[in-house]
Amino acid sequence: MLEKNIVEQVCFDQTIEAIDPSAVHTVTLASGNIMPVAAFGTFHSDWAQDYMFDATLEAIRIGWRHIDTARAYENEDIVGQAIAEALKRGYIESVDELFITAKLWNGHMAKASVAPALESTLRALGVEKVDLYLNHWPSPNVHTPGCAADHLNPNAVPYIHEEFMETWQEIVKLKKAGKIVDIGTSNHTKGTMQMLLRDCAADERPVVNQMEMHPLFQQNELRRYFQSEHITCVGYMAMGSPHRPARDSFKEHRNDMADPTLLAIARELGVVPPTVCLSWAVQREQKSGGFVAMATRSDWIRSNLENATRDLLSSDQLIRLCGDGTPGNDGIDANNRLIWGQVFLWPEAEGDWRVLWNDSQLFETREDYLEFKRAWSRYADIKKARTFQSE
Ligand SMILES: NC(=O)c1ccc[n+]([C@@H]2O[C@H](COP(=O)([O-])OP(=O)(O)OC[C@H]3O[C@@H](n4cnc5c(N)ncnc54)[C@H](OP(=O)(O)O)[C@@H]3O)[C@@H](O)[C@H]2O)c1
Repeated sequence: MLEKNIVEQVCFDQTIEAIDPSAVHTVTLASGNIMPVAAFGTFHSDWAQDYMFDATLEAIRIGWRHIDTARAYENEDIVGQAIAEALKRGYIESVDELFITAKLWNGHMAKASVAPALESTLRALGVEKVDLYLNHWPSPNVHTPGCAADHLNPNAVPYIHEEFMETWQEIVKLKKAGKIVDIGTSNHTKGTMQMLLRDCAADERPVVNQMEMHPLFQQNELRRYFQSEHITCVGYMAMGSPHRPARDSFKEHRNDMADPTLLAIARELGVVPPTVCLSWAVQREQKSGGFVAMATRSDWIRSNLENATRDLLSSDQLIRLCGDGTPGNDGIDANNRLIWGQVFLWPEAEGDWRVLWNDSQLFETREDYLEFKRAWSRYADIKKARTFQSE
């Protein structure tokens, strides 16, 4: 029933007026390159895959110039076809008018797989280079597309720095070869970023980290750390991803758009809640970052982009949403993480998804991890034996 209602909402209307792309706010990355703050997302769970060609084409017609893609979304070729069609129809004169973000999938992080993965991405998108190439996740763990929330891959491992650096050095080589303009990370934690920055040269540093950020999950501490390192933070699920499939939703999750403060601000401004979410994403912390958002309706595609052309929220409204930067005053932030990443967990995380994010299991080398694994396994055996004795 929900599925049917959602599909009925898909609506592309070419009479909806486009926005001048030059009116969209930009940020200057540490490299000096300029990135439009609003990125059109091309991932949508399951049902919307059939609409990504039309949605991406419509986004380009309406004025989006930053397109967020990933190998994991299994639609780079569809996005490539939409870009080709946009050129054919004259929505853009050259692909250089677009800022394209692409991502290296976890399954391609082995040294020998990185270059072929980027080649395949470039071919599918129909471009010679991408503006920004992100390493999608810090660890090489994969899950079956559409798998259940409790699915675990027995080969999953925690963050192993020496192996990550091999991947990163391959990404750097591709940048130096001119196939990537800027490099960045996604879903990095403070600990994994500190290790990366410790071991890379000045021209090998990431300039962007794409991470989950929405009004009920603002990630202030982490974001400020990245900013202090001149890494621009781009927020995904900026509206709280209202149509996530059931397998990615948990009873603990809260709905950003139902937050009373956010609703009150929407009423004061006479706008809908998504407008407040995206205005927050554009204006937060001296307009230092950006957002990724997707939609499959022309009116939403337009209104979402419009938020990146203006500063709708007053400073008082921003403070009500974000707090004033002093400890303990974080506005409406509720630590409401939506992407738990539970399908990426390794055995020693013992099913606790927080371990993925709290840096409690980071390893310099594979040998360090194996040593920990052996100790953990001995401890697990002792625990099991004690349980049997007490029964
Ligand atoms: N780096 C990563 O690991 C990562 C992880 C997750 C996502 N992402 C990126 O972030 C993008 C956005 O994530 P998301 O789609 O889950 O979250 P989102 O952008 O917060 O939410 C998108 C949903 O909001 C609805 N929507 C869009 N505009 C609206 C409006 N103006 N009013 C009411 N509803 C609106 C859309 O509905 P309809 O579908 O009906 O149009 C869509 O279902 C993805 O497409 C992907 O590119 C990256």
